[in-house]
Amino acid sequence: MLRRLHSEQPESFAFTPDNQKWAEAQLTKYPEGRQASAVIPLLWRAQEQEGWVTKPAIEYIADMLGMAYIRVLEVASFYFMFQLVPTGSVAHVQVCGTTSCMICGAEDLIAVCKEKIAPKPHTVSADGKFSWEEVECLGSCTNAPMAQIGKDYFEDLTTESFTKILDDLAAGNPVVPGPQNGRYAAEPKSGLTSLTEYDSGKTQYNASVQLAVDLGDSVKRIQGDEVPILTPWVGKDGVVAGRAAEGQPPKAPEAAKPAAKQAAEAKPAPKKAPAKKAAEPASPEGAAAKSVEESAPETLSEARGGKADDLKMLKGVGPKLEETLNELGFFHFDQIAKWTEAEIAWVDSRLKFKGRIERDGWIEQSKQLAAGEETEFAKKAKDDGRYKD
Ligand code: FES
Repeated sequence: MLRRLHSEQPESFAFTPDNQKWAEAQLTKYPEGRQASAVIPLLWRAQEQEGWVTKPAIEYIADMLGMAYIRVLEVASFYFMFQLVPTGSVAHVQVCGTTSCMICGAEDLIAVCKEKIAPKPHTVSADGKFSWEEVECLGSCTNAPMAQIGKDYFEDLTTESFTKILDDLAAGNPVVPGPQNGRYAAEPKSGLTSLTEYDSGKTQYNASVQLAVDLGDSVKRIQGDEVPILTPWVGKDGVVAGRAAEGQPPKAPEAAKPAAKQAAEAKPAPKKAPAKKAAEPASPEGAAAKSVEESAPETLSEARGGKADDLKMLKGVGPKLEETLNELGFFHFDQIAKWTEAEIAWVDSRLKFKGRIERDGWIEQSKQLAAGEETEFAKKAKDDGRYKD
């Protein structure tokens, strides 16, 4: 199946405040420079929030992680778990069509979907509440046929029970996931033949069903406030355990704020800005020491000779950040290579990426690139096709 971005996209994307906090907390799980590792959890959270993965969401996440948009799109379009087209506002229904389920009646369930939702998969129903698709084995073969609706499995389905579940969901009535034929879990249909003593003291439903029932809503969209965000490795002072000693930034990443927002918030670049105190120290080391006097670097109104350097060759600079640097008047590696500490503070305060310039070593990288040398990062970027020359 061809997986591409939907032709109609929303104007913008933003995580809810709680989901934003959650997303920023995820970044602290990974070593500095490896934030791209959070791409799947963040895409998944965006989908849980919106119901599908939109182009603005892909760009937002790419900006958060300092990744090229194409890299995040590659992930989103590779994994079928990411929905690239709008889904129903109540639930997206995934009917297993693999062997056990097919033998036991999956085709009848698909017929229900065609009749009650839409004749074709990945189409939102007329009332906007549902969408559906056929999926590969969901690992619940013993309870075939089955479907995943929202986060829960509905098993041992018949056309009647499946129809009733969809009707109840449409009406906003609570539904009970799990086996629909009276089975507790995946025991033989004729009843337990071993471990029968386990029967005593068990909950009304099996554990996952019990949890869904206790929550009272199995298809609710995730807003981020459902469970506390646990990041025990981040101290109260924002220090990520083990990082300070490695010379890494001591704060949980403020850098998680998307560059799209930063660009919008970035102050216009005066050719010579009045000196002022930096609000915060630019470097991790400076966090405990000093604030640096800001001084505006020399800027250009346009690239020399009409040809800018590819600033994305600097580790930590993605397309949005490059755009922002250009807007500020920086087009060439030799400009960045000359920044003094005070000038770094000036740029830093406009990028709102506190400490990123020093953390990622932009000055050293720029010196090398301006001298025609190749950095390790630039070589990798060139190898994977990000170099525009
Ligand atoms: S075949 Fe349907 S869950 Fe495995």
